[in-house]
Amino acid sequence: MTARTLFSAGITGTGMSFPEKVVTNQDLEALVETNDEWITERTGIKERRWAEPGTPASKHGILAAQQAMAMAGVEPEEIDLIVVPSVTPDMMFPATACVIQHALGCTNAWGYDVSAACSGFVFALQTARAQIETGAVKKALVIGSEVMTSIMNMEDRNTCILFGDGAGAVVVERLAEGLEGIIDHMHHIDGRGADFLYMPAGGSLNPASHDTIDKGMHYIHQEGREVYKRAVKGMTEVTKGIIERNGVSGEQVKLFVPHQANLRIIEAVQKRVGLVDEQVALNIHRYGNTTSATIPSALHMYQEQGTLQPGDYVVLAAFGAGFTWGSTLMRWTVGA
Ligand SMILES: CC(C)(COP(=O)(O)OP(=O)(O)OC[C@H]1O[C@@H](n2cnc3c(N)ncnc32)[C@H](O)[C@@H]1OP(=O)(O)O)[C@@H](O)C(=O)NCCC(=O)NCCS
Repeated sequence: MTARTLFSAGITGTGMSFPEKVVTNQDLEALVETNDEWITERTGIKERRWAEPGTPASKHGILAAQQAMAMAGVEPEEIDLIVVPSVTPDMMFPATACVIQHALGCTNAWGYDVSAACSGFVFALQTARAQIETGAVKKALVIGSEVMTSIMNMEDRNTCILFGDGAGAVVVERLAEGLEGIIDHMHHIDGRGADFLYMPAGGSLNPASHDTIDKGMHYIHQEGREVYKRAVKGMTEVTKGIIERNGVSGEQVKLFVPHQANLRIIEAVQKRVGLVDEQVALNIHRYGNTTSATIPSALHMYQEQGTLQPGDYVVLAAFGAGFTWGSTLMRWTVGA
Protein backbone atom coordinates (compact mmCIF):
# COMPACT_ATOMS: atom_id res chain seq x y z
CA MET A 1 0.00 0.00 0.00
CA THR A 2 1.35 3.43 -0.88
CA ALA A 3 0.88 6.19 1.69
CA ARG A 4 -0.87 9.32 0.46
CA THR A 5 1.80 11.91 -0.25
CA LEU A 6 0.84 15.58 -0.31
CA PHE A 7 4.27 17.16 0.01
CA SER A 8 7.94 16.32 -0.54
CA ALA A 9 10.42 16.18 2.34
CA GLY A 10 14.13 16.86 2.07
CA ILE A 11 17.23 17.49 4.17
CA THR A 12 18.04 21.22 4.35
CA GLY A 13 20.75 21.33 7.02
CA THR A 14 23.34 19.06 8.64
CA GLY A 15 25.51 19.21 11.75
CA MET A 16 27.80 17.10 13.88
CA SER A 17 29.56 17.23 17.23
CA PHE A 18 32.14 14.97 18.83
CA PRO A 19 33.89 14.98 22.20
CA GLU A 20 37.40 16.43 22.14
CA LYS A 21 39.18 13.41 23.57
CA VAL A 22 40.78 11.32 20.82
CA VAL A 23 41.46 7.68 21.70
CA THR A 24 43.86 5.99 19.29
CA ASN A 25 44.33 2.27 18.75
CA GLN A 26 47.65 2.60 20.57
CA ASP A 27 45.83 4.08 23.57
CA LEU A 28 43.64 0.95 23.68
CA GLU A 29 46.72 -1.25 23.99
CA ALA A 30 46.92 -0.02 27.58
CA LEU A 31 43.36 -1.20 28.27
CA VAL A 32 43.11 -4.64 26.64
CA GLU A 33 45.32 -7.11 24.78
CA THR A 34 45.11 -5.66 21.29
CA ASN A 35 47.19 -3.70 18.81
CA ASP A 36 46.88 -1.08 16.09
CA GLU A 37 47.52 -3.59 13.30
CA TRP A 38 44.68 -5.92 14.38
CA ILE A 39 42.16 -3.12 14.83
CA THR A 40 43.10 -1.39 11.57
CA GLU A 41 43.03 -4.59 9.50
CA ARG A 42 39.86 -6.02 10.99
CA THR A 43 37.81 -2.83 11.32
CA GLY A 44 39.43 0.15 9.53
CA ILE A 45 39.23 2.17 12.74
CA LYS A 46 42.30 4.26 13.65
CA GLU A 47 40.85 6.44 16.38
CA ARG A 48 37.57 7.36 18.05
CA ARG A 49 36.26 10.06 20.41
CA TRP A 50 35.30 9.25 23.95
CA ALA A 51 33.24 11.59 26.14
CA GLU A 52 34.08 12.31 29.76
CA PRO A 53 32.20 9.91 32.07
CA GLY A 54 28.78 11.34 32.90
CA THR A 55 28.32 13.14 29.59
CA PRO A 56 24.67 12.79 28.47
CA ALA A 57 23.86 11.93 24.85
CA SER A 58 21.85 15.16 24.64
CA LYS A 59 25.02 17.27 24.96
CA HIS A 60 26.44 16.55 21.52
CA GLY A 61 22.96 16.12 20.06
CA ILE A 62 22.17 19.72 20.99
CA LEU A 63 25.40 21.03 19.43
CA ALA A 64 24.86 19.05 16.22
CA ALA A 65 21.24 20.21 15.97
CA GLN A 66 22.24 23.86 16.39
CA GLN A 67 24.63 23.55 13.44
CA ALA A 68 21.99 21.85 11.31
CA MET A 69 19.42 24.58 12.09
CA ALA A 70 21.97 27.31 11.30
CA MET A 71 22.74 25.70 7.93
CA ALA A 72 19.03 25.38 7.13
CA GLY A 73 18.32 28.93 8.32
CA VAL A 74 15.64 27.63 10.67
CA GLU A 75 14.85 29.15 14.08
CA PRO A 76 14.17 26.86 17.07
CA GLU A 77 10.52 27.99 17.30
CA GLU A 78 9.94 26.85 13.71
CA ILE A 79 10.75 23.21 14.50
CA ASP A 80 7.57 21.09 14.70
CA LEU A 81 9.09 17.69 15.43
CA ILE A 82 12.23 16.28 17.09
CA VAL A 83 13.13 12.62 16.61
CA VAL A 84 16.11 11.17 18.47
CA PRO A 85 17.33 7.69 17.62
CA SER A 86 19.72 6.55 20.36
CA VAL A 87 20.68 3.40 22.25
CA THR A 88 22.30 5.56 24.91
CA PRO A 89 19.58 8.11 25.75
CA ASP A 90 20.18 10.39 28.74
CA MET A 91 17.70 8.25 30.73
CA MET A 92 15.17 5.49 30.07
CA PHE A 93 12.61 8.28 30.28
CA PRO A 94 11.79 11.05 29.63
CA ALA A 95 12.78 10.88 25.99
CA THR A 96 16.04 12.59 25.07
CA ALA A 97 13.95 14.41 22.44
CA CYS A 98 12.33 16.29 25.35
CA VAL A 99 15.69 17.18 26.90
CA ILE A 100 16.93 18.48 23.55
CA GLN A 101 13.67 20.33 22.80
CA HIS A 102 13.96 22.27 26.06
CA ALA A 103 17.66 23.06 25.64
CA LEU A 104 17.21 24.28 22.06
CA GLY A 105 14.11 26.35 22.83
CA CYS A 106 12.00 24.51 20.26
CA THR A 107 8.87 25.70 22.03
CA ASN A 108 6.48 24.57 19.29
CA ALA A 109 7.86 21.07 18.80
CA TRP A 110 6.73 17.64 19.88
CA GLY A 111 8.84 14.55 19.48
CA TYR A 112 10.03 11.16 20.62
CA ASP A 113 12.97 8.77 20.72
CA VAL A 114 13.39 5.86 18.33
CA SER A 115 15.02 2.57 19.32
CA ALA A 116 16.54 0.86 16.30
CA ALA A 117 20.22 0.75 17.28
CA CYS A 118 22.56 1.30 14.32
CA SER A 119 19.57 1.62 11.97
CA GLY A 120 18.15 4.32 14.23
CA PHE A 121 18.96 7.24 11.97
CA VAL A 122 17.39 5.82 8.80
CA PHE A 123 14.31 4.64 10.72
CA ALA A 124 13.93 8.03 12.46
CA LEU A 125 14.43 9.90 9.19
CA GLN A 126 11.57 7.91 7.67
CA THR A 127 9.20 8.81 10.53
CA ALA A 128 10.01 12.50 10.03
CA ARG A 129 9.64 12.23 6.26
CA ALA A 130 6.28 10.49 6.53
CA GLN A 131 4.88 13.20 8.78
CA ILE A 132 6.10 15.93 6.48
CA GLU A 133 4.70 14.21 3.39
CA THR A 134 1.24 13.93 4.93
CA GLY A 135 1.30 17.58 6.00
CA ALA A 136 1.27 16.85 9.73
CA VAL A 137 4.51 18.78 10.30
CA LYS A 138 6.66 21.13 8.21
CA LYS A 139 10.09 21.18 9.85
CA ALA A 140 11.75 18.38 11.79
CA LEU A 141 15.05 17.66 13.48
CA VAL A 142 16.46 14.13 13.37
CA ILE A 143 19.35 13.78 15.80
CA GLY A 144 21.48 10.65 16.20
CA SER A 145 23.46 11.04 19.40
CA GLU A 146 25.34 8.44 21.39
CA VAL A 147 27.59 8.03 24.37
CA MET A 148 28.53 4.44 23.58
CA THR A 149 31.24 4.52 26.28
CA SER A 150 28.41 4.51 28.84
CA ILE A 151 27.50 0.92 27.85
CA MET A 152 30.93 -0.44 26.83
CA ASN A 153 32.83 -3.04 28.80
CA MET A 154 36.35 -1.61 28.75
CA GLU A 155 37.74 -5.07 29.55
CA ASP A 156 36.14 -6.73 26.50
CA ARG A 157 38.48 -6.41 23.54
CA ASN A 158 35.78 -7.75 21.20
CA THR A 159 33.68 -4.63 21.65
CA CYS A 160 35.59 -1.83 23.39
CA ILE A 161 37.72 -1.16 20.33
CA LEU A 162 34.73 -0.69 18.03
CA PHE A 163 32.61 2.13 19.37
CA GLY A 164 32.86 5.88 19.81
CA ASP A 165 30.80 8.81 21.10
CA GLY A 166 29.31 11.67 19.10
CA ALA A 167 26.31 13.08 17.31
CA GLY A 168 25.01 13.99 13.89
CA ALA A 169 21.82 15.89 13.07
CA VAL A 170 19.74 16.94 10.09
CA VAL A 171 16.89 19.35 9.51
CA VAL A 172 14.18 17.83 7.32
CA GLU A 173 11.65 20.20 5.77
CA ARG A 174 8.63 20.34 3.54
CA LEU A 175 10.08 21.30 0.15
CA ALA A 176 8.83 23.89 -2.31
CA GLU A 177 6.54 22.42 -4.95
CA GLY A 178 8.41 20.66 -7.75
CA LEU A 179 11.49 19.84 -5.67
CA GLU A 180 12.30 16.19 -5.09
CA GLY A 181 13.94 15.20 -1.79
CA ILE A 182 13.58 11.89 0.03
CA ILE A 183 12.29 9.41 -2.53
CA ASP A 184 12.01 5.98 -0.95
CA HIS A 185 12.90 3.79 2.00
CA MET A 186 13.31 0.01 2.41
CA HIS A 187 13.29 -1.10 6.04
CA HIS A 188 13.23 -4.44 7.84
CA ILE A 189 13.36 -5.94 11.31
CA ASP A 190 14.00 -9.56 12.32
CA GLY A 191 13.83 -10.36 16.03
CA ARG A 192 15.70 -13.62 15.53
CA GLY A 193 18.80 -11.42 15.59
CA ALA A 194 18.21 -10.36 19.17
CA ASP A 195 20.62 -12.96 20.57
CA PHE A 196 23.58 -11.68 18.60
CA LEU A 197 23.75 -8.03 19.66
CA TYR A 198 22.08 -6.73 22.79
CA MET A 199 22.36 -5.17 26.22
CA PRO A 200 20.68 -7.64 28.60
CA ALA A 201 20.03 -5.51 31.68
CA GLY A 202 18.49 -2.17 32.50
CA GLY A 203 15.06 -2.85 31.01
CA SER A 204 12.03 -4.62 32.48
CA LEU A 205 13.39 -8.09 31.68
CA ASN A 206 16.45 -7.65 33.86
CA PRO A 207 16.04 -4.48 35.93
CA ALA A 208 19.29 -3.03 37.23
CA SER A 209 20.44 -4.80 40.39
CA HIS A 210 23.70 -5.62 42.12
CA ASP A 211 23.53 -8.98 40.38
CA THR A 212 23.15 -7.54 36.87
CA ILE A 213 26.02 -5.17 37.55
CA ASP A 214 28.24 -7.95 38.90
CA LYS A 215 27.53 -10.00 35.77
CA GLY A 216 28.25 -7.09 33.42
CA MET A 217 24.76 -7.28 31.95
CA HIS A 218 24.56 -3.52 31.40
CA TYR A 219 27.20 -3.71 28.68
CA ILE A 220 27.00 -4.38 24.93
CA HIS A 221 27.11 -8.10 24.11
CA GLN A 222 27.94 -9.04 20.55
CA GLU A 223 28.60 -12.13 18.43
CA GLY A 224 30.74 -10.23 15.96
CA ARG A 225 31.02 -12.86 13.21
CA GLU A 226 27.29 -13.47 12.92
CA VAL A 227 26.51 -9.75 12.94
CA TYR A 228 29.17 -9.21 10.29
CA LYS A 229 27.68 -11.78 7.90
CA ARG A 230 24.13 -10.56 8.37
CA ALA A 231 25.17 -6.91 7.98
CA VAL A 232 26.83 -7.54 4.61
CA LYS A 233 23.80 -9.48 3.34
CA GLY A 234 21.20 -7.06 4.69
CA MET A 235 22.88 -3.84 3.62
CA THR A 236 23.60 -5.21 0.16
CA GLU A 237 19.97 -6.25 -0.31
CA VAL A 238 18.46 -2.92 0.71
CA THR A 239 21.04 -0.85 -1.18
CA LYS A 240 20.65 -2.76 -4.44
CA GLY A 241 16.92 -3.06 -3.84
CA ILE A 242 16.21 0.62 -3.37
CA ILE A 243 18.15 1.83 -6.39
CA GLU A 244 16.71 -0.86 -8.67
CA ARG A 245 13.15 -0.28 -7.45
CA ASN A 246 13.46 3.40 -8.37
CA GLY A 247 15.17 2.92 -11.72
CA VAL A 248 18.41 4.56 -10.59
CA SER A 249 21.70 3.08 -11.82
CA GLY A 250 24.74 2.60 -9.58
CA GLU A 251 26.67 5.22 -11.58
CA GLN A 252 23.98 7.81 -10.90
CA VAL A 253 24.54 7.58 -7.14
CA LYS A 254 26.69 10.53 -6.10
CA LEU A 255 27.22 9.37 -2.53
CA PHE A 256 26.54 6.10 -0.75
CA VAL A 257 26.51 6.67 3.01
CA PRO A 258 26.66 3.32 4.80
CA HIS A 259 26.50 2.86 8.55
CA GLN A 260 30.09 2.80 9.76
CA ALA A 261 30.50 -0.39 11.80
CA ASN A 262 33.41 -2.02 10.02
CA LEU A 263 35.34 -0.96 6.92
CA ARG A 264 35.31 -4.56 5.68
CA ILE A 265 31.51 -4.64 5.82
CA ILE A 266 31.37 -1.37 3.86
CA GLU A 267 33.84 -2.63 1.24
CA ALA A 268 31.96 -5.91 0.84
CA VAL A 269 28.67 -4.06 0.29
CA GLN A 270 30.33 -1.57 -2.08
CA LYS A 271 31.73 -4.43 -4.17
CA ARG A 272 28.42 -6.32 -4.32
CA VAL A 273 26.49 -3.19 -5.30
CA GLY A 274 29.19 -2.19 -7.81
CA LEU A 275 30.19 1.25 -6.55
CA VAL A 276 33.62 2.91 -6.82
CA ASP A 277 35.56 4.34 -3.86
CA GLU A 278 34.68 7.96 -4.72
CA GLN A 279 31.00 7.16 -4.22
CA VAL A 280 31.39 5.80 -0.69
CA ALA A 281 31.31 8.03 2.40
CA LEU A 282 33.71 7.03 5.19
CA ASN A 283 34.36 8.39 8.65
CA ILE A 284 34.93 5.15 10.55
CA HIS A 285 38.72 5.64 10.61
CA ARG A 286 38.28 8.83 12.65
CA TYR A 287 35.25 8.11 14.81
CA GLY A 288 34.67 4.33 14.97
CA ASN A 289 31.12 3.05 15.24
CA THR A 290 28.99 5.83 16.71
CA THR A 291 25.73 3.85 16.18
CA SER A 292 22.93 6.30 15.25
CA ALA A 293 25.39 9.14 14.64
CA THR A 294 27.48 7.57 11.85
CA ILE A 295 25.25 8.47 8.90
CA PRO A 296 24.22 12.05 9.82
CA SER A 297 27.80 12.93 10.80
CA ALA A 298 29.08 11.53 7.49
CA LEU A 299 26.44 13.53 5.62
CA HIS A 300 27.66 16.66 7.40
CA MET A 301 31.31 15.95 6.59
CA TYR A 302 30.62 15.43 2.89
CA GLN A 303 28.35 18.47 2.74
CA GLU A 304 31.05 20.60 4.37
CA GLN A 305 33.78 19.41 2.02
CA GLY A 306 31.63 20.31 -0.99
CA THR A 307 31.01 16.79 -2.33
CA LEU A 308 27.25 17.13 -2.35
CA GLN A 309 25.30 19.44 -4.64
CA PRO A 310 21.54 19.99 -4.84
CA GLY A 311 19.91 17.30 -6.95
CA ASP A 312 22.57 14.63 -6.33
CA TYR A 313 21.32 11.12 -5.63
CA VAL A 314 22.32 10.00 -2.13
CA VAL A 315 21.72 6.50 -0.75
CA LEU A 316 21.89 5.68 2.97
CA ALA A 317 22.07 2.13 4.34
CA ALA A 318 22.33 0.73 7.84
CA PHE A 319 22.28 -2.50 9.80
CA GLY A 320 22.03 -2.93 13.55
CA ALA A 321 20.83 -4.75 16.63
CA GLY A 322 17.39 -6.28 16.44
CA PHE A 323 18.21 -7.12 13.76
CA THR A 324 17.18 -3.89 12.06
CA TRP A 325 18.27 -2.77 8.61
CA GLY A 326 17.21 -0.31 5.98
CA SER A 327 18.04 2.13 3.24
CA THR A 328 16.97 5.57 2.04
CA LEU A 329 17.15 7.05 -1.46
CA MET A 330 17.04 10.81 -1.81
CA ARG A 331 17.93 13.80 -3.89
CA TRP A 332 20.23 16.13 -1.96
CA THR A 333 18.37 19.31 -1.05
CA VAL A 334 20.74 21.34 1.14
CA GLY A 335 20.95 24.71 -0.63
CA ALA A 336 18.32 23.71 -3.21
C1 LIG B 1 33.97 -7.54 15.81
C2 LIG B 1 34.79 -7.87 14.58
C3 LIG B 1 35.65 -6.68 14.19
C4 LIG B 1 35.70 -9.05 14.88
O1 LIG B 1 36.42 -9.37 13.72
P1 LIG B 1 36.51 -10.89 13.27
O2 LIG B 1 37.36 -10.91 12.07
O3 LIG B 1 35.12 -11.43 13.15
O4 LIG B 1 37.29 -11.53 14.46
P2 LIG B 1 36.83 -12.70 15.45
O5 LIG B 1 35.80 -12.21 16.39
O6 LIG B 1 36.53 -13.91 14.64
O7 LIG B 1 38.17 -12.90 16.24
C5 LIG B 1 39.36 -13.37 15.61
C6 LIG B 1 40.43 -13.49 16.65
O8 LIG B 1 40.85 -12.17 17.07
C7 LIG B 1 40.73 -12.07 18.49
N1 LIG B 1 40.37 -10.70 18.84
C8 LIG B 1 39.12 -10.20 19.05
N2 LIG B 1 39.20 -8.91 19.34
C9 LIG B 1 40.50 -8.57 19.31
C10 LIG B 1 41.20 -7.37 19.51
N3 LIG B 1 40.57 -6.23 19.83
N4 LIG B 1 42.54 -7.37 19.37
C11 LIG B 1 43.19 -8.49 19.05
N5 LIG B 1 42.60 -9.67 18.88
C12 LIG B 1 41.27 -9.70 18.98
C13 LIG B 1 39.68 -13.08 18.87
O9 LIG B 1 39.82 -13.45 20.23
C14 LIG B 1 39.98 -14.19 17.92
O10 LIG B 1 41.06 -14.95 18.41
P3 LIG B 1 41.08 -16.56 18.29
O11 LIG B 1 41.07 -16.79 16.81
O12 LIG B 1 42.34 -16.91 18.96
O13 LIG B 1 39.83 -17.01 18.97
C15 LIG B 1 33.85 -8.24 13.40
O14 LIG B 1 33.28 -9.49 13.63
C16 LIG B 1 32.76 -7.24 13.18
O15 LIG B 1 33.01 -6.11 12.85
N6 LIG B 1 31.51 -7.67 13.28
C17 LIG B 1 30.37 -6.84 13.04
C18 LIG B 1 30.28 -5.83 14.10
C19 LIG B 1 29.21 -4.85 13.83
O16 LIG B 1 28.97 -4.51 12.71
N7 LIG B 1 28.59 -4.41 14.90
C20 LIG B 1 27.65 -3.40 14.92
C21 LIG B 1 26.49 -3.70 14.09
S1 LIG B 1 25.68 -2.28 13.94
